[in-house]
Amino acid sequence: MDTQVLPVSEESIRLARDLLLDGQVVAFPTETVYGLGAWAFHPDGIRRIYEAKGRPSDNPLIIHVAPEILNKSYPLEGIASSIPDAGYALMKQFWPGPLTLIFPKDQQVPDQVTGKLPTVAVRMPSHPAAIRLLEGTGLPLAAPSANLSGRPSPTTAAHVFEDLNGRIPLILNGGECSVGLESTIVDLTEAVPVILRPGKVTREMLEAVVGQVEVDPAVQMAKSLDAHVAPKAPGMKYRHYAPRGYLIVTDASNEVLYDWINEDLMQRTGEKIGIIASHEKLLALQSLSGMDGEDFSHNQHLVMIDLGSASDYNTIARRLFEALREADENGCTRIWGEAFERSQLGEAIMNRFLKAASERRLS
Ligand code: TXA
Ligand code: MG
Repeated sequence: MDTQVLPVSEESIRLARDLLLDGQVVAFPTETVYGLGAWAFHPDGIRRIYEAKGRPSDNPLIIHVAPEILNKSYPLEGIASSIPDAGYALMKQFWPGPLTLIFPKDQQVPDQVTGKLPTVAVRMPSHPAAIRLLEGTGLPLAAPSANLSGRPSPTTAAHVFEDLNGRIPLILNGGECSVGLESTIVDLTEAVPVILRPGKVTREMLEAVVGQVEVDPAVQMAKSLDAHVAPKAPGMKYRHYAPRGYLIVTDASNEVLYDWINEDLMQRTGEKIGIIASHEKLLALQSLSGMDGEDFSHNQHLVMIDLGSASDYNTIARRLFEALREADENGCTRIWGEAFERSQLGEAIMNRFLKAASERRLS
């Protein structure tokens, strides 16, 4: 199958609509990451999503809806069987935007979409291209991230092409995603809302609207690789976002990290060693390297991948998945990752980074 990559236009939206009505899949940009969409009520389309991604079929999908539904007297008609007050409050505050809400499902939603769960995940993206697609087709779209299962989520059309070329007919190109990490997921089917996946909309932001919000124990447990607590978002149980190289995320001091990297360079001759870190961290490592003659900045076996300033978590979030792919492109067999503070957006950054890691060295 040939994969077309087209800018968003009246014509490409028409083509997308024809494909979706026919039970095909279309990749499209959202403000978080690129999605691989199918009409939520077309069984062939849903089947093709799982096939194209190589995704386990018990891992449910998020249904994406257009802003125009907010004008309806009951906005999630045919999708959610009920919406609690907290749901209305969160929709009003954060939709369209990077927040997915879990409701009891309407019986019309196919079991294939929800992995047979009695609940359904819904989100209203804010990216203009996603809105154009949703409004132009008039179809609710079930869409996971548009990567091969297990790979880092795509934040550009080129990333989608890298993973899915030949497996899907169309990628709508809407440039780089502004958030760069997938949406926050909040379960509203319990008495107290529960965060199943951290994201750009933080716990503090949610609590400011609905009062107490809990975090799924599996998210907090993300420090240990073999989670003993089964996550409630089925997708969170798989090793995710992983680069091909062996990634070690660490909060070690500059001096200790410098020694570890030097050891790698000595023992792993011919291999490429990657460092994914803030600008400040990379500068600090380079200044250490100047002191004893081992010059990091000119070492051809070392690949420094700069996430931007340590004080700018928005940029770090936006760059993280791309950085993991960059390490692969450079053929890094071992990658050192800098651990960040787990507060606010740092919670989502560390959640993804630790899930991508083969090893954690945290104090
Ligand atoms: O930002 C995003 O949410 C992106 C863009 C494309 O919208 N989508 C995305 O989809 O990240 P995906 O499929 O990669 O991740 C969806 C997560 C999975 O972990 C899945 O298990 C969980 O949502 N999920 C879906 N339906 C659920 C449900 N009814 N209950 C609990 N978790 C659910
Ligand atoms: Mg995904």
